[in-house]
Order: sequence, then C-alpha cells, then structure tokens
Amino acid sequence: MRTVTWDYTHQQVKMIDQRLLPGEFREVSFTRYEQVADAIQTMVVRGAPAIGASAAFGMALAAQTSSASDIQEMRADLAAAGEVLRAARPTAVNLAWAVERMLEAAGDPGIDDVRSLQAGMLDLAQRIADEDVEINKRMATHGANMMQENEVVIHHCNTGALATVDWGTALGVIRMAHEQGKHPHVLVDETRPRLQGARLTAWELEQYGVSYEIITDNAAGYFLSSGKVDRVLVGADRAAANGDVANKIGTYMLALAAKDNQVPFFAVVPTSTVDLKIPEGKQIPIEERNQDEVLNIEVKGEQVAPGGAAARNPAFDITPNRLITGIVTENGVVYPPFEMNLHQAVRGSQC
Ligand code: MRU
Repeated sequence: MRTVTWDYTHQQVKMIDQRLLPGEFREVSFTRYEQVADAIQTMVVRGAPAIGASAAFGMALAAQTSSASDIQEMRADLAAAGEVLRAARPTAVNLAWAVERMLEAAGDPGIDDVRSLQAGMLDLAQRIADEDVEINKRMATHGANMMQENEVVIHHCNTGALATVDWGTALGVIRMAHEQGKHPHVLVDETRPRLQGARLTAWELEQYGVSYEIITDNAAGYFLSSGKVDRVLVGADRAAANGDVANKIGTYMLALAAKDNQVPFFAVVPTSTVDLKIPEGKQIPIEERNQDEVLNIEVKGEQVAPGGAAARNPAFDITPNRLITGIVTENGVVYPPFEMNLHQAVRGSQC
C-alpha cells in the first residue's frame, strides 16, 4: 500500500483519503498542484514524509500542466507552485525540503527544454517517494534491533505507512519488531483532536496483526507510572539541530511523564525531517488549526461544548532534547549530545 503515488496512465497524483479511514478506503486523484496543496491542508494526506512526497508529486504536476513555452517561464511557474505547496502546512519541514529539492533540480543548467524539465520533475518526485520507503525500512531495522521481546510501547498519533509513502517511522519500528517475532504490544494514544491514533494507527495495527489497545491521551501518565511500559516511540514533524522535536500535540506531556518514570523515550526521525538551520525547537513554527476540529465532537448526536464556545487548536508541540533518550534515524540511533551526533547522522555517517 502506498499513501501517495503517481498514476502513469492518467498523469495524476493519487492518494488514500485518510479523512475517511477506518470506515472507508477510498483513493482520490488530482490533476492540478493547487488541489494537492489543498489535500495537504485539509489532511486528505498527512504525516511529515507523506506530505513531503505529495508536494514533490505536486511539483511534477505543476510542470506537466504549465503552459510555459520556454524553460525560464516554466521555472517561474515551478517557483510559484512551490510557494503554494510550501504554505499548505508550516510545521513539517519535509514539505519545504521536498519543494526545495525539486526547485534545485529544476534549476539545473544542463536542462534546456521544457519536455526534459517535465520528465526530470516526475523522475525526481518518484525517486523521493521510493527513497522514503527505503529510508523507513532502514530506520525500522535500527529501531527494532534495540527492542526486546514482549515490550509494551506507547505510541502517539499515526506514524505508520499512512504518514509516509509506505512502512512508517515509529510505527514502522513496531511493525519491524513484530516481523522479527518480538511480539510488541502497543498502547495507542487516541490523539485528540483528530484521533489519528484511534482511527489510523489502530487500523494499520489491525492489518499487520500487531497486538494493541487504544488509550485516551490522558491515560498515558497512568500507564507510564504503572511500571508496565517499556518504551515510548513517536515520530516528528521537524527536529532542530539540538535534537528538540516538534511532533503531534501531546507529545511533550508524554515525554515529561516518561522522563518522570524513567521510561525510555525515542523519536524516530528520517534525516529529511531534521532542520539543521533551526538551532532550537522554540524556533519551529507551530501550526494552529481551526477551532472546529476541537469543538465538533458529538456524543449521542449532540455537540459536547456549549454553542458559542471558543477553542484553541495547536497541532504540534515541542519536546526538548533533555526529555529524549535517543533519535532513531536511517543512519542509526543517535544519543546525546544531540548537537554533535545528529549533525553527523544528517551528514550520512553511520551512528
Ligand atoms: O497532523 P498530522 O497528522 O500530519 O501529524 C502527524 C504527526 O504528528 C506525526 O507524528 C509526524 O508526521 C511524524 S511521523 C511520520
């Protein structure tokens, strides 16, 4: 299963509509990059690596649909498309990373006609998607190798195949440990307000046959203090150079409770999610989404909050590096001091 693909027959971008899961599995297709940007914003597709690959395919669409007759005009069209795609969601750096990679390739002076540029954009987008799967499997192997048999793991949000092109980051580690016969058991944070845990992670774990139970987000501290949780595994939307990570809202509270109970806390982060330009987490922009995502929750057909209630809805928070035991990358598991060791992992040295 790939979350986002290029349909070579119809020259379209295809995605699983994640808003409908687990009730309905439906794929949707897009013919214009603006639709891809909208799909990212409205969370048809979500998860840092998945939106990066989607943006890359969006750039390929922008090249295919451009009416430019010369290469300079097409490069200008691509720059404009890049701005729109980049602005769709601000926290996950993979979006900007993928757009920049596409624009850099588009600027190659060796490309001198529009047809070659169109072909080059599609080739690179496909490569970004394929690399994502390969990188996730490498991370999963590093992460699973550090796990023991029968571990109980708390997992937040959805970091599985759906959050990437395929396989996943933190959930990919769990999936690999399961395939290695280690029998992990997952306590799945339901992950308010959009319930990526209860809807998407639970759906994926069902497919893989991994043992799990859903818990409310506010039960995590109770389980961490019970002495029965071996590890917390999360993903990240952006890691700063010092190892602070931005991830789904609630991750920070989870990390605090893990630290207080000496439970190892690992972030599983491809190097494309590390932003060495940002020294510390507090400089990472945090997306605040519409209050309706918090307020539109119904019990027995009735909205829970009184009419006229206001809500705040930050989508991510920052977990400082002092709460993080290790960061699993495709180049190995990085331990403190993160400033030095994360840098080396991003440069490609094996940890
Ligand atoms: O708002 P979402 O669903 O896009 O948030 C996703 C997460 O927070 C994931 O943990 C993150 O993207 C890293 S895992 C691939």
